[in-house]
Amino acid sequence: MIPNSGDCVILEGIAKRFTKDDHVLENISLKVSKGEFITFIGPSGCGKSTLLRLIAGLLKPSEGIIHINGKTPELADSDLAFVFQDANLLPWRKSIANVALPLLLRGVPKLEREAKARMMLSLVGLNNAENKYPWQLSGGMKMRVSIARALSISPKILLLDEPFGALDEISRDHLNEDLLKIREKDLFTTFFVTHSVAEALFLSTRVIVLSRNPGRIHTTIDVPFSYPRKPDLRESPEFLSLLAQTTRALRAVL
Ligand SMILES: Nc1ncnc2c1ncn2[C@@H]1O[C@H](COP(=O)(O)OP(=O)(O)O)[C@@H](O)[C@H]1O
Ligand SMILES: [Mg+2]
Repeated sequence: MIPNSGDCVILEGIAKRFTKDDHVLENISLKVSKGEFITFIGPSGCGKSTLLRLIAGLLKPSEGIIHINGKTPELADSDLAFVFQDANLLPWRKSIANVALPLLLRGVPKLEREAKARMMLSLVGLNNAENKYPWQLSGGMKMRVSIARALSISPKILLLDEPFGALDEISRDHLNEDLLKIREKDLFTTFFVTHSVAEALFLSTRVIVLSRNPGRIHTTIDVPFSYPRKPDLRESPEFLSLLAQTTRALRAVL
């Protein structure tokens, strides 16, 4: 079945159990259009990472169907890129070689992959770091390299699992702003996980609050702010009011 072409990712009645009796996720249904920025937020252990892994095809659902651009996640593999909380850079490779790694694995010739890696490093604001090793980079810079590596394959869908959780608030805010700028240039569809309500609202088109045991969709918050979003959006009364509303929804599932 080919779903509606306007919907890029479709989840229908997804359930996930790791054993017979656990119910990690239940009845998750979601339609996501191309270019949307979806953030999952919810208590620890509610199944956020599991949900991202299901969408990425790294896990199979126990029930339900997932379509990525009309394909199964396994067949859509080349459209997907994943960013984890730990930047996971290879310590013996310079930034440029870390970013170029997915292209190397795909057999892209050296000059071509280095040119693309350079472009991606410049996109994440790291033009001067191409010859630095991971130990020479700050936490925020490592995460930028990790994002550049994910973007090197020009994914249609980018999944990020608490990518900025380990960073200080100022670095996190800067990375949020830069992630939105990158997204303006290349409108990939994004699935994001965070514990920060403010980060979720600043970035997303929709914030989905998950409950725990079993993980279900508790509340969906449509974020009405247009892009590009300026840093001072965070101080506007409309933003603060949505922040309070989302925090209340989150408190209800804790
Ligand atoms: N590979 C696995 N095998 C067994 N249980 C798992 C596995 N991955 C996750 N779980 C369990 O599923 C639940 C949800 O985990 P996870 O998706 O990591 O939650 P979150 O990311 O929201 O903190 C937890 O109870 C966790 O122990
Ligand atoms: Mg997790």
